Amino acid sequence: MRIAVYPGSFDPITNGHLDILERSLKLFDKVIVAVLVNTSKSCLFQAERRKEMISKVVGRKNHITVGSFGGLLVDYCKQVEARTIIRGLRAVSDYEYELQISSINKQLAPDLETVFLMASTQYSFLSSSIVKEIAKLGGNVSALVPKEVEIALKMEFSKNS
Ligand code: PNS
Repeated sequence: MRIAVYPGSFDPITNGHLDILERSLKLFDKVIVAVLVNTSKSCLFQAERRKEMISKVVGRKNHITVGSFGGLLVDYCKQVEARTIIRGLRAVSDYEYELQISSINKQLAPDLETVFLMASTQYSFLSSSIVKEIAKLGGNVSALVPKEVEIALKMEFSKNS
């Protein structure tokens, strides 16, 4: 069984992430969406909430599992018996960071491969940070994130205003 882990902060998940996830299912038998916990990054949503949103959005599908991890990604991959890490690549600006983390992961776990999927053109500009900024300023994010996330963002920012 070809198991892959699709890791990220997913703060929150966007249509760009979902596009990568959907396309990765054509390549793997099972994809585990792995939400990073305990990050030094300050996140808008708690990890449990991010995970819950992803689960709601993807629904119950045999080939997708949603999990979370707080340590090294390579250790999590070992634990869930995944041999591949999936990452999406948008602009050239992603390249350096992605090269760095894939090289480190390769050094830590030589048997693990990272597979990069190029973002679809319509999502090549899209990031969770951009979505949060637009939502915070009262803009419409309905074309950028699933409905669940749009509602969660509205609630979060109305709470803070
Ligand atoms: O969505 P992001 O924030 O770009 O995802 C980054 C992520 C989660 C893939 C990366 O930060 C990660 O794997 N963190 C876990 C800690 C780890 O394994 N570090 C060593 C490789 S950077």
